[in-house]
Amino acid sequence: MPVIQFLGSAYLLDDGENLLDGLLRHNARVPHSCRAGVCHSCRLRTTTGTTLLACQTTATVALCLALPRRNEVSGIITAITPHTATEVTVEIATRLPLSVAAGETVTLVSADGLEENFMLINHDETRQTLTCNVTRVAGGSPFNTWVHAMAAVGDRLMVIKAN
Ligand code: FES
Repeated sequence: MPVIQFLGSAYLLDDGENLLDGLLRHNARVPHSCRAGVCHSCRLRTTTGTTLLACQTTATVALCLALPRRNEVSGIITAITPHTATEVTVEIATRLPLSVAAGETVTLVSADGLEENFMLINHDETRQTLTCNVTRVAGGSPFNTWVHAMAAVGDRLMVIKAN
């Protein structure tokens, strides 16, 4: 039975129990909504910086978890516009406002945990949309390869503002 450290307390989870169910069973306050891996509101981070969805993760070893940083918001891809065979522009609508400007760097994280840093080429505060160019290079970023090969409008991402 794994022990989970979360916000200064230790919780013993049952074998096979997902993190969200286990923490809620102990009355820990974990943000959540769909419990199905869709809304990303149960996102937590480990002390090593990895992020996970509590409702979709079953721990087999002890973990130390925290809430996401305040500069993280969930988003959804609203457009992918190809320019060349190796470059597309991706537009992302964020669920909450994010204080960033064109020229600043954000980290995008896919639902599968792939991530990459991008300089924003546009931030429309009214529509809460961010835009960046994603370039595919042979043997390059797995995130960029995913964007070119598999990403689609409606896919969810996390957007993290650089500190
Ligand atoms: S509660 Fe919605 S993704 Fe976990």
